Amino acid sequence: MTEQDFILKSYNPHIERGKVKWSSPSNIALVKYWGKRDNQIPENPSISFTLSNCKTITEVTYTKKEGNDFSFDVFFEGEKNEAFKPKIQTFFERIEAYVPFLRDYHFKIETSNTFPHSSGIASSASGMSALALCLMSIEEDLDMDHADDYFNRKASFLARLGSGSACRSIEGELVVWGQNESTVSSDLYGVRFEGEVHANFNNYQDTILLVDKGEKQVSSTVGHQLMYGHPFAKERFKQAHINLAKLKNSLLSGDIDTFIEVVESEALTLHAMMMTSMPYFILMKPNTLEIINKIWSYRNETNSKACFTLDAGANIHMLYPENEKVNVLEFIKNELVSHCQNGHYICDQIGLGANQIED
Ligand code: PMV
Repeated sequence: MTEQDFILKSYNPHIERGKVKWSSPSNIALVKYWGKRDNQIPENPSISFTLSNCKTITEVTYTKKEGNDFSFDVFFEGEKNEAFKPKIQTFFERIEAYVPFLRDYHFKIETSNTFPHSSGIASSASGMSALALCLMSIEEDLDMDHADDYFNRKASFLARLGSGSACRSIEGELVVWGQNESTVSSDLYGVRFEGEVHANFNNYQDTILLVDKGEKQVSSTVGHQLMYGHPFAKERFKQAHINLAKLKNSLLSGDIDTFIEVVESEALTLHAMMMTSMPYFILMKPNTLEIINKIWSYRNETNSKACFTLDAGANIHMLYPENEKVNVLEFIKNELVSHCQNGHYICDQIGLGANQIED
């Protein structure tokens, strides 16, 4: 599908009000998106596990209004929130060409997360995808039926314009975003990974070890900009294509050793890009390194297949097969919890994507 296909051409102007609600998960990238062109087009392809428990739940009530401005209120966890408004205003400006009814209605946006506030877990992927899905349900109320995959494709397309990685949160269990030679893909929206994933990856676990619950030191907007003129950018973008091809093979064949190699290397490369940019940043904390070293020792000593990945921050996502759950959680409690802020961690696993909530 092209950008033109996502422009809503006409809709029923007589609908006065309505309410829609979605729950949408976060996702964790295995091959990382870092660097973008205009209009949130990624410089390289990425692939992620959709999560199951870390979600945003958003309800949007829309009411017909006069006037031609954008009009919306945001409530976060029950309280009116002004801090989110500029981001949503920018989002509306970016997407209005595709959803022209945005100026016809007042929107009451009520949102909450299942994960604790200030846990250092970015809520932009789950938050922006939940909002995009609500807008798509409104479009459906005003428009009528769409072809089957149009709804999800356009939801992902809109979510991308809110926050790039949000386009990978609509579906599960693995989603690819960014054109590449190895998988069915698009730069405009996320696409479910095609092919039968080996049973070794069924219900793959992700335990998020909260090393630093503070605000992100580098926003992803600033982070992506660091890739402009970065001395290693070109090679890094090439490497992502190679890593995606390797990861694809490991997912299909069940080769967890290659999976570990690609996933850990991707995490460290993301951080290496930030260490070697100008200005430069170190986003890991001493406890991040302590945990990485302990995971490596544990793997050597026990033949476990547990590995780690990182976002653009200090927290660790520990990924492991479901059949190791009991042992790994024991290891986490005994060895890793002492490196987490206030001993906090969140247990999650690979999930199926967003859900509409009917009240
Ligand atoms: O979606 P953004 O602009 O917040 O960028 C997210 C980038 C990473 O989380 C670091 C990697 C990724 O692919 O999700």
